[in-house]
Amino acid sequence: MINIAVDGFSGSGKGELCRGLSEKLNLKHLDTGAILRAMGLYFYKLGFTEISEELVEEHLNNLNITVDFEGDKQITKLNDEDVSLEIRQEIIGQMASRVAVRQKAMMKLIEISREFAEKYDCILDGRNITSEVLPDADVKFFLTASLDCRAKRRHDFAISKGFESNLQEVKESLAERDDRDIHRDFSPMIQTEDSILVDNTNMTIQETIDYCYDLTIQKLSTLGKLKS
Ligand code: C5P
Repeated sequence: MINIAVDGFSGSGKGELCRGLSEKLNLKHLDTGAILRAMGLYFYKLGFTEISEELVEEHLNNLNITVDFEGDKQITKLNDEDVSLEIRQEIIGQMASRVAVRQKAMMKLIEISREFAEKYDCILDGRNITSEVLPDADVKFFLTASLDCRAKRRHDFAISKGFESNLQEVKESLAERDDRDIHRDFSPMIQTEDSILVDNTNMTIQETIDYCYDLTIQKLSTLGKLKS
């Protein structure tokens, strides 16, 4: 079984890297943030902006989140409705990070993610994959880029999808999320000692993919896990 773990800051290109590596190495890619975003969307639609542990506990059984695949594309469903596009809005990213602070929600995410990783040769991205979800992953990356660069990427993405977006607001939202992800009590985002740090501020997506691909091949080959 091959397990690759990718963590890093919002907008650091984790998704693109995982899509690139999964294509080249024939792995399944699970975007774990999508699961928390689906939970965030659920509470957002109910009109909640503050998320308490009690609220999560009360609603967790009403939240049926499933992940399917159409080819390589992850389809995230909330109570049988495809919410894959809707959850990409920055406001839902904000809601996801508020949900992520809550232990019960995070435990659910960890459970779904580990089950996935036991079934498939895969690559998972999130905030606590290298540290908590897959501490024994074969290869681990931690991605970062300057806040300005990350905000610009997220802003451009939102515009391309037809969402309203304001660059300064996106920047503030990402900074707030980063801070929350790093400082939460349960399963915070950390850069583990065995993760390879990749700052791609001045790299294209393709350069990031190529760089990480070479390192992955080396590591898998050392482990005798390279598929022919
Ligand atoms: O990666 P993405 O921006 O989709 O994640 C949305 C939010 O979900 C993050 O800001 C973070 O708070 C949370 N998250 C997390 N742990 C994960 C994946 C996402 O805390 N494994």
